[in-house]
This record gives sequence, C-alpha cells and structure tokens, in this order.
Amino acid sequence: MPDKKVPVVKHGDVTQRVGVEVIKARGVDVDLLIKKLIANAAAEFASTYYYYTILRMHLAGHEDYKEICEDARLEDRAHWELIVPRIYELGGELPNDLPAFHDQAGCRAAKLPDPPTAVNILTLLLESERCAIRSWIEICDMTFGKDPRTYDMASRILNEEIEHEAWFIELLAHERDGKSIPSGHFRRGEPGEAPYSKNRGFYNP
Ligand SMILES: [Fe+2]
Ligand SMILES: [Fe+2]
Repeated sequence: MPDKKVPVVKHGDVTQRVGVEVIKARGVDVDLLIKKLIANAAAEFASTYYYYTILRMHLAGHEDYKEICEDARLEDRAHWELIVPRIYELGGELPNDLPAFHDQAGCRAAKLPDPPTAVNILTLLLESERCAIRSWIEICDMTFGKDPRTYDMASRILNEEIEHEAWFIELLAHERDGKSIPSGHFRRGEPGEAPYSKNRGFYNP
C-alpha cells in the first residue's frame, strides 16, 4: 500500500524523484543531508586521502606503520567513491571548484606535522579518524529508520573508521608510550581492502 504522505510524482516527470520524496515523507531533511554528505566526501577525499599520502611518505623506517596508514588512506578513497553517487541520486552535486570543495570539508586537513615524527604523524592520524567517526555517526543518526540506502552506506563506512581509530590507538600507544593496546588488526588481504565499504561488494553483494 503506497504511503499517503508521499506527494504524487506525475507520470513521466523527471523533475522529481520518488526515491527522494519517500525519505522526505519519513522525516529526512534532504537538503541538510546533501550538505553533510558533501562535507564528508570532502573530508574523505581532501582532508584524509590526499594528506594521508604525504603522511605515509614520511613514516620512513616504519614499514608496518606505512602499511597501516596505506590501508586507512585507500579505504578513505573507497569511502569517497561509495558516497559520491548517493549525493547525485539525492539531487545534489559536487562543487565545480576544487578549492571550494576542500573548504567545505567536515574535518581539518591532516597536514604533515612539524616536526614529522612518527608520534606526531600517528597522533594526527588518530584524531583524523575520530573526526570521521563523529561525522559518519551523525549521518547514521539522521537516516536510521528513514533512509535505508544512505544509512547502509554510512554504517559500512563507520565500521571501517572505527577500525582505523583502533589501529592508530595501538600504534601510537606503542610508539609514544611503549604500551600494548591491541586493536585486533592483523592485515587486510590486499592493501586498502575496505571489507565493508567497497563499491563492488555493495552493488553485487
Ligand atoms: Fe573514511
Ligand atoms: Fe578512516
């Protein structure tokens, strides 16, 4: 039985989307959701994927740290790829200007610290992952029980951000404090495997 609160989209009308109207009718503020998804996409692409590349380069002498930084870097790229199509489906679009896009990021750029010691880099990585967790749980809260498609994507990403935080707690505690705080991590099958967020698995489960 169709939901009576959903406005009728006329036959053949390409100016409206039933996929958007049904989530609005369930209480999603779609304009706000698009804005937050763009901010999160900018954080994945600019604040972390780009800057983690530089951070990884500077973890010289720590091949294990490099590899884990690389997993986090490639998985943030997977997060970007996963969520961008959803922005367009919802009727939004990416800014056609890279600096403007960068400036909308919901997390601070993970710029190379001075001095670029392993402790300083791991601290920055840890705090970047914490920002990502806060940003993605906000999307989960906005969409839970109302927009299953966005919720599913956001919760897949959140799974990996929580893993990333645990990895960097383990590495920073070891490097800075000489302490053992296990994350449960061994290694991905392939660098940046993204077990929860990979696009292929999502579209062809
Ligand atoms: Fe991410
Ligand atoms: Fe991450």
